[in-house]
Amino acid sequence: MNAANQRAIHESLKCIECSQSYPVDKVRYLCECGGLLSLHRPPYIYANLNPELFDARLLSRADIDVSGVWRFREAVLSMQNDEMITHPEGGTRLYHRPALSEWVDVDELHLKHEGENPTGSFKDRGMTVAVSQAKRIGARFVACASTGNTSSSLAAYASQAGLQALVFLPAGKVALGKMAQAIGYGARCLAVRGNFDQALDMVRKITEDELVYLVNSLNPFRLEGQKTIIWEILQNLRWTAPDWIVVPGGNLGNTSAFGKAILEAYDAGWIRKKPRLATIQAEGANPFYKAFESGFGDLKPMQPETVATAIRIGNPVNYTKARRVIEELDGQVLQVSDAEILEAKKLIDLQGIGCEPASACSLAGIRKLRADGYIKKQDKVVGILTGHMLKDPDIILANSVNQLEEIECSMDAIETLLKEIH
Ligand code: F0G
Repeated sequence: MNAANQRAIHESLKCIECSQSYPVDKVRYLCECGGLLSLHRPPYIYANLNPELFDARLLSRADIDVSGVWRFREAVLSMQNDEMITHPEGGTRLYHRPALSEWVDVDELHLKHEGENPTGSFKDRGMTVAVSQAKRIGARFVACASTGNTSSSLAAYASQAGLQALVFLPAGKVALGKMAQAIGYGARCLAVRGNFDQALDMVRKITEDELVYLVNSLNPFRLEGQKTIIWEILQNLRWTAPDWIVVPGGNLGNTSAFGKAILEAYDAGWIRKKPRLATIQAEGANPFYKAFESGFGDLKPMQPETVATAIRIGNPVNYTKARRVIEELDGQVLQVSDAEILEAKKLIDLQGIGCEPASACSLAGIRKLRADGYIKKQDKVVGILTGHMLKDPDIILANSVNQLEEIECSMDAIETLLKEIH
């Protein structure tokens, strides 16, 4: 049986509200009832998968095994190997720094640097799956709204797949590195005079046309790829679960994908306990935090503002999925101020790791969770760094004491400098 037939039998898109199922080879982003869709496969598929299979692939040099997404392919999406549009992505590092452990007061701190993906953010993990799916179903255009990283990633994968990318960006609110990437990789970039949430409304409208395929995290295939951040962490830690996983939250795609990945890994017996999950939002873009604090009633959309432009989002589309995950994993949702974000970012940068502002929410959040007593000193904690330092160079230059110093091109200047540092 070929992969396409297998897929038709094993996989379906299932509504998280009313359980209605849809075939995976038809374009569908929401259920008829308006509920979010999630890729469903029967539990026996997971039960037949063993972490040893994934570990054995670490020795292979084939792109689909090197990829930290397709290495787990049986639990991501059934496809023929040559249908997978892979850079390859994933395979990111875990960092350890005594100074950062000390700052958050946690003995065992790991930072998973998703900024080490090919286009500099975790988005590549979801995009390899969504663009492979777009190609399979015969889309001609692929589109997204983005605070920046999704657009860079989509632009790169679309050009690899030979598809035209259309990206809608909130005008004046996208970091320079991200915008340059999207343009350079060949996307058609449209600056919307509005915020991310409004840009997403526009994309949802344009993707009602069948020619244009939507790849925002509303697209369930994106989340299947993002699950592999969790599985790669578990593999990095030799299939022992950490106590906590801490991630920044904007549109809440990661939070949703992480929960699915943890539950699937646990139910399949790949790990013996479920890590707890914490989502950290910026104070000025905190609708999920506010909903959590009020016992998870209805989400109240807000006008977002934060220095962490990646998570400048006021109406997260994945709210319902993320809420269920936090409830099921006994999780936490926290907010941190822009000042706390910039302080944590500076420390990460000065350790030679570096990250973009939104990513620093993880470290700032871990510190707060520890201070509030949720995280214990002896807990094993993993923080996710979602994007690369070079994504947002302006913020570094605006917030660093170190600046470029001009000196004369002369031996005198060298002698003066030597005297100064002695
Ligand atoms: N960190 C970075 C660096 C991001 O780019 C994003 C989202 C997030 C965190 C939040 O992740 O949405 O899964 O909760 N960026 C999207 C974009 C919105 O368009 O690039 P989330």
